[in-house]
Amino acid sequence: MFESKNSEKNIFNLLAPWYDRFRKIVESGEIVEISQEIEKIERSNDRTLKILDVGGGTGNHWREKVSDGKDFYLLDENRSMLSHSEEEIRAIQGDAQSTPFKEKTFDVVLCVDALHHFDDRLGSLEEMDRMLKPKGKIIFVDFDPENILTRGISLIERSFGEPGTFIPLHSLKNFFEKKGYSSKLKRLNSYMYLFTFQKNDA
Ligand SMILES: C[S@@+](CC[C@H](N)C(=O)[O-])C[C@H]1O[C@@H](n2cnc3c(N)ncnc32)[C@H](O)[C@@H]1O
Repeated sequence: MFESKNSEKNIFNLLAPWYDRFRKIVESGEIVEISQEIEKIERSNDRTLKILDVGGGTGNHWREKVSDGKDFYLLDENRSMLSHSEEEIRAIQGDAQSTPFKEKTFDVVLCVDALHHFDDRLGSLEEMDRMLKPKGKIIFVDFDPENILTRGISLIERSFGEPGTFIPLHSLKNFFEKKGYSSKLKRLNSYMYLFTFQKNDA
């Protein structure tokens, strides 16, 4: 079984019991936006969508809107966070940079408020690309690295031993465009973005 690094010191061990209540307070409309993106993909497919939420935490806030009627998987390195997920969610403990899934498994990969928590962000992006089916979509929601609030969040997270490193949006775009993805950026508010990348059909 995969074990997270420094698991006793991990901030998410402390947050896990309160995480869902905290998450409701900081929700910035991303659940509606992500649901709409997924509906669009659903309309162009006649099969049940296979969705993976990477760094998905407890996964509970997606359950009603995003996971109903879909093949939904939650991957997170933190056992405490996963232990607070609903029973019907398939929760897998693992590292975003090296998952147990075969290549071209998922129609949609979600990564919400999580990428800047990963130690190996580049390796995690490569892994998302590996797991995604042709024509599939990767959806990121995170804090805008250029915003002053994000710099404050980064300092706070680093003081708790987290990487707190936010990938610049142009770097994220370059990474996926080099692999032939198309992209669509949407601002959810002044400090949060939703970035969708669609894989070509090769
Ligand atoms: C702020 S939480 C976000 C949880 C959820 N996506 C949400 O929107 O509420 C970040 C999550 O990333 C997870 N995480 C950090 N590093 C990870 C890694 N290398 N692989 C998988 N999960 C990781 C943490 O355990 C934590 O649950």
